[in-house]
Amino acid sequence: MDLDVRISPYLSGNFAPVRSEDDFELTVTGEIPAGLKGALYRTGPNPQFEPRDPNYHWFSGDGMIHGFFVEDGKVRYRNRYARTPKWELEHAAGKSLFGTFGNPMTTDPDAFGKDSGVANTNIIRHAGRLLALEEGHRPFQMDLSSLDSLGYADFGGKVTAHPKEDPVTGELVFFGYGDGDLPMSPEVSYGVVDKAGKLLRRDKFVAPYSSMIHDFMVTGGHVLFPVLPLTMSLERAMSGRPPVAWEPEKPALVGVMARDAHVDTIRWFNAPACYVFHVMNAWDEDGKIVADVMRYDVAPLFPNADGSKGKQAGAYLVRWTFDLTGASDAIKEEQLDDLAGEFPRFDERYTFRKNRHGWFAGQAGTPGDVRTDILSHIDLTTGKRTDWAAGAGDSVSEPVFTPRSIDAPEGEGWLLATVYRARDNVSEMVVLDAQNIAAGPVATARVPRRVPFGFHGNWVAA
Ligand SMILES: [Fe+2]
Repeated sequence: MDLDVRISPYLSGNFAPVRSEDDFELTVTGEIPAGLKGALYRTGPNPQFEPRDPNYHWFSGDGMIHGFFVEDGKVRYRNRYARTPKWELEHAAGKSLFGTFGNPMTTDPDAFGKDSGVANTNIIRHAGRLLALEEGHRPFQMDLSSLDSLGYADFGGKVTAHPKEDPVTGELVFFGYGDGDLPMSPEVSYGVVDKAGKLLRRDKFVAPYSSMIHDFMVTGGHVLFPVLPLTMSLERAMSGRPPVAWEPEKPALVGVMARDAHVDTIRWFNAPACYVFHVMNAWDEDGKIVADVMRYDVAPLFPNADGSKGKQAGAYLVRWTFDLTGASDAIKEEQLDDLAGEFPRFDERYTFRKNRHGWFAGQAGTPGDVRTDILSHIDLTTGKRTDWAAGAGDSVSEPVFTPRSIDAPEGEGWLLATVYRARDNVSEMVVLDAQNIAAGPVATARVPRRVPFGFHGNWVAA
């Protein structure tokens, strides 16, 4: 069945879903590095049925997991739906039942009050479990090799898509938002599970207002909650206006607390109106907290509160500094690079420590087009940026770094990404030397069809 592309630009071209679950041996060009053994998992929205909501949002499609399994220089590909309760209910009905973000105004009465989780935003391994994550539901467990759906994992409630794993303790530090009795409430949960996946704490606080909080910052000693003016409102949704909207007249705030402290101790710092989807890394430094983030002047992809179309802006890498010893609650901001981009990543062995090397997906074209077409490496010590451009009309995914060996120096290893080749309408997994990305891929594994644009992925070493 063809989807009606008039209802959303996110249902056409390589945003359109693929409906088959496949297993392919991929054709490899070049040479897969000898030490590279494991799997690149990626996820993204892939609606099982034509969405019923005329305001279908890219973020609300059913999750599909794409696994690239690398061994002995060969690459196998397997993709499977995350068969969430929503997926199962709609599968049985043979049609979509849920409105975007569970919006009751556009949900079929048969699905009222039912779980609308789509598990489409990130896929991580923790405590031996492969977990598909999204904004507003519980982590959904998948089998590491078969990609079979195993059901929700228990974290005591909602977990967003960007928890942070402590490289020393193995703990997973997470949060959930809109976590009250009513949908889109201003309640935020802060939680920690230990390295075995057991819940150690989960505490709630009320944010200054209800905001879509996509990512947060964690350091060795602190946790930081951005409350930025991309607001959520059930009342607005019930009156037919956007459930999620840009409201720049609200303050841009970041709540800072010690990781082991009570949520009552949060101190609110402030910034000019802005939005941040993603954080590269954050660390403690001499009474300050430093965080490198991809910052937008205007939240992209969402309308204004009155329903008018929002502006499309690009994000730029900036460094935020929070002075914990000073009297000022202003966040100091310094721009680190001038290429618009998204999906900042780093050598995650340096989580909570000052990192020198970072990578992101850059945009040579119009800032605000969510497609990215350049892989970029930035040396944060020298400020020098190096790029690899995929080619005219082609797009790249988030880059994922994996070290050459456990004890290799920072940033020495490989960068993995998927590339959409528009002319041939197929996708590839590419492997680049992370310190020499300008040379282009050392190996390319071609899928015999396209892999739809998605959000996040991670490498799990064998
Ligand atoms: Fe994200």
